[in-house]
Parts: sequence; C-alpha cells; structure tokens
Amino acid sequence: MPELTTPQPCRHAAPTAKAIKLAYLMFDRPDLERASEFLTDFGLVTASRSADALYWRAADTAPFCYCIRKAKKAAFAGFGFEVANMDDLVALSQLAGASAIEDVSYPGGGKKVVLSDPSGFCVEAICAQRPVAALPRRAALPLNFSEARNRVNDTQRPPVAAPEILRLGHVVLEVADFQASSAWYTQHFGLIPSDVQVLPDGSPAVVFFRLDLGDTPADHHTLAMAQGFMPLYSHSAYELVDADALGMGQRLLREKNWQHAWGIGRHILGSQLFDYWQDPWGAKHEHYCDGDLFTADQPMGVHSVSRQAMAQWGQSMPLSFTKPKINLVTLRGLCRSLRHSEDVTLKKLKMLARIFA
Ligand SMILES: [Fe+2]
Repeated sequence: MPELTTPQPCRHAAPTAKAIKLAYLMFDRPDLERASEFLTDFGLVTASRSADALYWRAADTAPFCYCIRKAKKAAFAGFGFEVANMDDLVALSQLAGASAIEDVSYPGGGKKVVLSDPSGFCVEAICAQRPVAALPRRAALPLNFSEARNRVNDTQRPPVAAPEILRLGHVVLEVADFQASSAWYTQHFGLIPSDVQVLPDGSPAVVFFRLDLGDTPADHHTLAMAQGFMPLYSHSAYELVDADALGMGQRLLREKNWQHAWGIGRHILGSQLFDYWQDPWGAKHEHYCDGDLFTADQPMGVHSVSRQAMAQWGQSMPLSFTKPKINLVTLRGLCRSLRHSEDVTLKKLKMLARIFA
C-alpha cells in the first residue's frame, strides 16, 4: 500500500459538529429556463419557485436538494450540510467568520449557519428542516440470475423516461489548499476519510469523505476533494434505483443532445455504477447506483492515483473530464495559488498534469 506523507486527510477526535446529510447544492445560472430543461431531462423535479430562484427535489423526503438562482454569471454557489441538532448549529455559529443562527427561507424552513471553508466555498449548516412526502418511484427491476430466476413469464421493460432521482448523493470539489480544507471538514463536520489517492511523493491527490453516522452505514463518499490549482466545482452525484435507470438516463439525455462527460462504468473507490453529463455551463452531474456503504469503524484506505484507478470497467476516463479550462480567471487562480498555497507547487502540478491532463 502506498504511504500518505501529509497530516491530512485524517479523522478528527472531537469535531465541532457532525454532518448527517448533504442537504442541497446551490448554483447561480444566467438562464433559469435552459438550466431547467437540463435538470428536468436529468431527472430532478421542480419543488417550488421564488422571484429569483428555482428549487428542485428528488423522490426522497427532502424538501429540495438543488437550487438555481438567477444571476448574471454561472457559478457554483455552495452547498448545505444537515446537522443533527441545534447544539451543533450553536457550536458552528461560534466559529470565526460564521454567521449567527438564521431562519431559513428555502422550502422546508429550519435554521441555518452560513460558513466559508478555507477554500472560500460557501457551506451552510442547516437544522430542523420540515420533510415532505416522498414521490412515487418505481422499484428496482427484478433481475434473473442463473442462481435465482426472479422473473418468469414476464419481460424487462423499464420506462422510457427521464430517470427518477432518489436523492442527492455527493459533491466533489477541487481545491488548492488541500490540507487546510481537509482539516476544516473533518474538524467542523466530523467527516471521515474513506479512501485517499496519493501522488508518487505521498501527497494526497483525491480524498473521499463519508459522514460519521456511527453504526448506520453511510455512503462511501458524500464530499470528495481533489488537489487542484484553484477552488472549483468538479461534479455532483444523484442516486438512481438501478442500472437500467442509468442506461435509460443515458438514452434520454443523448436523445435530447446534452453533452456527455464520461460513462457508463463502475468506479473503484465507492464502487458505484456511474454516468456523467454536463449541464449547459459545463458543470458535471453524475447519475449513479449501487455505491459502497461504510460504517464509522472502517479504516481509511490509501491508494496510488492514476487514470486507471478511476474505474474497474467501462469507457476510460476521457482527458476532457479533468483537463482544466484555460482562461483569464483560471490563469489568475493558478498564479495566486502558486504564490500563496503551500499545497500547490510546480512539481506537484506537473505530477497531476501527467496523470489528469
Ligand atoms: Fe462522483
């Protein structure tokens, strides 16, 4: 097994609060109608709208899991973690730079504290949201195996429609300040590193964090973080009921001429079946099913990072999936990180580029 040579990622013994769920993501979009076309074809359902925002939901009982706000420029605007109780909110509100506890105006209400992580991402901690009734959804298809004949005198006909999204699964971020950002999420939200992929020098390239739900199994990752040269949204992922929903999703999104990013394949870390699509602004959205579940006692795995380490089978990861966009903003970000971030060096960027660009 390769060795990790940095302090992070590492679980924290006494975190400020514990995240119990990834509650929602927020995006700024210049064209809400175009954004809505993509999200509808992708499988999300409109929950409600306000004068300048649209809220989307999955089939679960969360009042919403995705918000698009009308804005001049497209941007990832942050995300919300649900925390277990008001004590957690109080503790988080006392951190430097945190907001006071506020009433929530989003669907489902509740209370929140607004924070900024060391990379500058907006992170909201939310509590006491009111759940809504779950939407009807199809059951997983009965599969025939040579050992188990589950479908006799019947056919396999999944509906030809946008796949039902069961819930928001995870979000993946690129950061320049990997050590500080990793330490912040483990210390303040109790996230547990499930697996880390390291570069040849032992420094982390990607970490997959899960929620600490004790003996209750949690997704292998709810937040993942990749070493990059500036803070960027990488992708977010949404759970589907089965592999046929994934395949049907691909058929429908292709027929609607949306931009495919990668898939279908099976990941190694997290093991899920995946299929990635891009929204009109190039933001990647993942359909997935059959992901790994770990309880809190599972120790962290350390692995070498490589392009081949991203999937067990399926289309190999295209270069376009990780190649950074070169423009004035990213060039400025790169220069700033090279000057100010301890985790970003030319040597490391060369190692990353050899693998991912
Ligand atoms: Fe993912």
